[in-house]
Amino acid sequence: MITDIIDEIAPRAVNVASPYFIGHMTSTIPFFMVHLKAITAALNQNVIKMETSKVLSILEKQILAKMHRMIYKNKDTFYQAHVQNTQTALGVFTTGGTTANLTALWVARNKIFKPKDDFKSIEQDGIFKAMTTHNVKQVVVLVSERGHFSLKKAGGILGLGNENIIPVDVDHNRHIDLKKLTLLIEKYKKDHTKIAAIVGIAGATETGIIDPLPQLADICETYNIHFHVDAAWGGPVLLSEKHAHLLKGIERADSVTIDCHKQFYMPMTSIEILDEILDEQEAIFKDLYK
Ligand SMILES: Cc1ncc(COP(=O)(O)O)c(C=O)c1O
Repeated sequence: MITDIIDEIAPRAVNVASPYFIGHMTSTIPFFMVHLKAITAALNQNVIKMETSKVLSILEKQILAKMHRMIYKNKDTFYQAHVQNTQTALGVFTTGGTTANLTALWVARNKIFKPKDDFKSIEQDGIFKAMTTHNVKQVVVLVSERGHFSLKKAGGILGLGNENIIPVDVDHNRHIDLKKLTLLIEKYKKDHTKIAAIVGIAGATETGIIDPLPQLADICETYNIHFHVDAAWGGPVLLSEKHAHLLKGIERADSVTIDCHKQFYMPMTSIEILDEILDEQEAIFKDLYK
């Protein structure tokens, strides 16, 4: 069996270690990762609960906090209060960038439908009651036309409709066109349409382009819209002293997707989604992952 894998499958797999392989997101990984992965498989821990993983759950919270700190840089006192707090979720490991984006939009969708009359929440009452109670005829997500297709998939899964993940034109620099974005927001405001989220791209899949995150954060703040940053590809740039400034504004995001199996050189699959723990979001996260 093992010789079959070595003789038959390995030679036919993409050689990510080849000097001719121009890193298409997942490149070769440091060799020790292979051993670490084997140890992880041998331990086979289930971090869903303390009793099924013990120390691994504690380490998971520590790693999430480090990633959170890389983005939000809160004070020590914040991390002292939250890192191992069982009531706090500083982030969530998911199975991929796709599911991280899905999770972020899930939270964003749930946030826009507040309890009203006998409507409790969209999780409990469903999208039809949410929309009729709030007199909403459409829910959209706005992202530059360079947005990753996982966002459209999320739109379908979340019942928003993948056609409602609205691509916004890009400007001559291939950044989201802020003027067109603002015009769209104004149009939807008059039209019984809720904007669940605006997504800023921090490293477009094909071009590496980073949207103007501070301006997007300003717009989201002005219109009170969930600001998600898809940094699946570009997030680890934050570790670079020289280039971290390119992601300025990410610290104002309500949620961030980072793909550890891309520029963190972890083996497939390793992702996380981090959120700036607003009280409200924290409650939603807890609800989703209880
Ligand atoms: C910007 C961006 N977002 C999301 C994803 C989805 O990640 P995954 O393939 O891990 O589901 C990718 C992957 O290419 C990406 O480049």
